[in-house]
Amino acid sequence: MTCLEPNADCDDMLKIVVMNDLHLVSPGSPSPNMDTTERFDLALQHAVQRHSDADLCVFAGDIADKGDAGAYAVFDRLRCQYEVPQCVTLGNHDDRTVYTSAATNFEMDPNGYIQCRRDIKGHCILVLDSSEPGRARGGFSKQKRDWIHAQLSDAKDLDLPVIVILHHNPSALQMPVDAYRLDEPDVLKAALLESGANIMQIVSGHCHISSAGSWSGIPCATIAGNHHSVEPFLRRRTGQQECYASSAEYGVVVSNGADCAVHFETYIGAQQAMDHALFPKKKDQTFEPMI
Ligand SMILES: [Fe+2]
Ligand SMILES: [Fe+2]
Repeated sequence: MTCLEPNADCDDMLKIVVMNDLHLVSPGSPSPNMDTTERFDLALQHAVQRHSDADLCVFAGDIADKGDAGAYAVFDRLRCQYEVPQCVTLGNHDDRTVYTSAATNFEMDPNGYIQCRRDIKGHCILVLDSSEPGRARGGFSKQKRDWIHAQLSDAKDLDLPVIVILHHNPSALQMPVDAYRLDEPDVLKAALLESGANIMQIVSGHCHISSAGSWSGIPCATIAGNHHSVEPFLRRRTGQQECYASSAEYGVVVSNGADCAVHFETYIGAQQAMDHALFPKKKDQTFEPMI
């Protein structure tokens, strides 16, 4: 049972929901090993119940499995049910040309890339378009970087901590999937570090696994997303890496400007709840006062 009550104490807390790797298909098309449309619908229903107070929902790429117009129509039809402000960016499975001609309610930078900026509750949120046609690892062209530079410079001048959300994970996970992480990651890293802005958190998808770590000192998290997820398959492992259809998650970023946390909300394969009587202190708990 979930209860969201008005609480002025939380009014200054930023909350961003991140949904990634939807891998939607056109109605009637073969689904990629699972019904990704049904799964996305469940994600949205879950977010409506738990996070109707979010300031922003970012759809962080691989919206469509095969970059087709029908999948983008499904995406637009379903996401309407989650009535919070939304941003979209694309991944390697998307097609920017098809998306911009078939989809609605998205924002482009002046060069036509699907990236945008939102300043909310004392934060600068940069939603970056790491997709590049024909390049699974994506990348950041000079045009994209020039736009990013301008936003970071502005965020620094305004003294806003920056939260970066993009599709491709830039940092290595020490897994085979690193062969597909963001191309030329040092190019983005240099843009972020040399800006002098306070890069508070990077959140990405693409690798289909939940993880947390850092990248030359910048905190990074990856969200497993809506499609299959993979097991941690670290160096020295051999043989088959397991892939799972039994779970799916979206991310929830919360920040007061100094403390930033990334949570992993499981909407498929949720844990079995234990008897409430075993944990009486978990009933009607209080929260630490907001700083
Ligand atoms: Fe994906
Ligand atoms: Fe991807």
